[in-house]
Amino acid sequence: MNPLLSRLQPYPFERLRQLFATVTPSPDYPAISLGIGEPRHATPEFIKSALTAALGTGLASYPATAGEPTLREACAAWMQRRYGLELNPATQVLPVNGSREALFALAQTVIDPARAGATVVHPNPFYQIYEGAAFLAGAQPYYAPSDPSRNFAVDWESVPDDVWARTQLLYVCSPGNPTGAVMPLAEWQKLFELSDRHGFVIASDECYSEIYFRDEPPLGGLEAAMKLGRTDFRNLIALTSLSKRSNVPGLRSGFVAGDAALIKPFLLYRTYHGSAMSPVVQAASIAAWNDEAHVVENRRMYREKFAAVTPLLSAVMDVALPDASFYLWAGVPAAWQGNDTAFARELLAQYNVTVLPGSYLAREAAGHNPGQGRIRMALVAETAECLEAARRIVQFIQSRG
Ligand SMILES: Cc1ncc(COP(=O)(O)O)c(C=O)c1O
Repeated sequence: MNPLLSRLQPYPFERLRQLFATVTPSPDYPAISLGIGEPRHATPEFIKSALTAALGTGLASYPATAGEPTLREACAAWMQRRYGLELNPATQVLPVNGSREALFALAQTVIDPARAGATVVHPNPFYQIYEGAAFLAGAQPYYAPSDPSRNFAVDWESVPDDVWARTQLLYVCSPGNPTGAVMPLAEWQKLFELSDRHGFVIASDECYSEIYFRDEPPLGGLEAAMKLGRTDFRNLIALTSLSKRSNVPGLRSGFVAGDAALIKPFLLYRTYHGSAMSPVVQAASIAAWNDEAHVVENRRMYREKFAAVTPLLSAVMDVALPDASFYLWAGVPAAWQGNDTAFARELLAQYNVTVLPGSYLAREAAGHNPGQGRIRMALVAETAECLEAARRIVQFIQSRG
């Protein structure tokens, strides 16, 4: 067996199952889960229709790993409309089966484990795939903490120079999961300078880019590069997904875009890995990327939901409207003395609401787990259900005095 497999950590939801194994949820309330970050708004009908219409011919031949030119053109055209970028669809865009597999596969393409101290830097808390991708590529993750005093911006300054010197890949997540924080241009500039100095690749995970609460849409990694005159996007690759934008997590569709010198070896890797996208999924994806009306409506629903729920919760706990994403990243009240797992267990036992302990989304580094004392609430259900959960959480906290 590959010994690196033993380095993988249990997924947060597995740990949640274990945490709740001995809890009896209150029978007085129907269950509500804010635990899993899976979009639950309805999939638009036109996307389903495009998928079924493609069944006629779509299953009869092997797809090319590079995808159909029409799909790559649709992705590039979306990047043009959204960020003002002029990408070459043939060399700077590649479809992937959701951003998860691409985040993982990119590390396997980029990392040279034979180079001493191969390191992958990523935020802490973080999406667990970054860490697993680093381990299985034969690298060591370095956990860069988010800073609550700066709206959960990642404290890149705290990463020592000798770590940057051996870094081969940096994952950034903007808008962030779980913090919802969006990286400003100045932060991008710092990271580009570090990448230039040390030669590492930046993978920009942007799967929440279309769910935002400010007037300004979140800055994209390639957009930041363009604004700073880096028009070749050297050492930069952005990962974008339809899962949250278009409410199709089951479609498994996204794309990567950026440095053509990275996309080429990535395509080679993917050819052997066998990760071509089904033509049926490609057809549905083209329809989804070409339409923006459903994305505007989706965002409106999230905005309405967050506007209703956030004030209820902020009256009893440390939480604020994030820049973007569909999470609330809240501090547990003082009565729980920073114990996020106890908070989650008691909430389930007394009010049948599931939330995810923040410590499960982060690792202890330098003696501190930056997720500790926080919980993540995914507001993915309908507004009425999220409001009901929020009311129960308010009661739960108030009953503790
Ligand atoms: C930060 C982050 N990146 C990537 C993904 C993967 O999304 P998908 O593979 O559906 O594109 C998720 C899913 O929850 C996520 O939270």
